[in-house]
Amino acid sequence: MSLLETIKKRRSIRKFKRKSIPEEYLEEIMEAARWAPSAGNLQSRKFLIVKNPQLKHELAKAAYGQPFIEEAPVVVVACADLERSALGYGERGRNLYCLFDVAASVENMLLTIHELGLGACWVGAFDERLVAEILEIPSTLRPVTLIPLGYPAEKPSAPPRVSVDEAFTIID
Ligand SMILES: Cc1cc2nc3c(=O)[nH]c(=O)nc-3n(C[C@H](O)[C@H](O)[C@H](O)COP(=O)(O)O)c2cc1C
Repeated sequence: MSLLETIKKRRSIRKFKRKSIPEEYLEEIMEAARWAPSAGNLQSRKFLIVKNPQLKHELAKAAYGQPFIEEAPVVVVACADLERSALGYGERGRNLYCLFDVAASVENMLLTIHELGLGACWVGAFDERLVAEILEIPSTLRPVTLIPLGYPAEKPSAPPRVSVDEAFTIID
């Protein structure tokens, strides 16, 4: 599959089979995250890999009851390392760059997950304070994305995208 095909074919998956993910797949997903770009190469991001059913249940509740979060065999909790970024870039690091560092990793993971025949969803709607409490995340880290992943049990069609003309303005 070409990269553009992988990008276009990836979908948010919100139904998963009850089947665990091979460890080597998880390793490849982590590797993809690790190699994403980051501001000043500070890599201001940390990830928790949650497999524990009770913790996944609590995460789903913290995400306003989105049920697929606890149905997924694995949930990656992606956190911005606020202080690491602030040490390099002050407020801009703390408020912006570390979020980009996480986002770049998240997209790398989503594409790798799709290429492995797995599925996932980028989840941003959750109570950060509750998630930090459930997983005992220190205040220097900000949990910003949940990624439930597993074998897909649905094949959604592609939601529309705006046209290139709408999204881009060419300035000669
Ligand atoms: C920042 C962000 C937050 C999102 N939060 C959620 C969420 O909380 N729950 C959910 O079901 N999908 C969430 N999504 C997934 C989007 O709904 C999805 O990417 C979009 O509808 C396009 O569909 P596609 O991913 O299949 O191309 C989020 C995506 C992004 C980028």
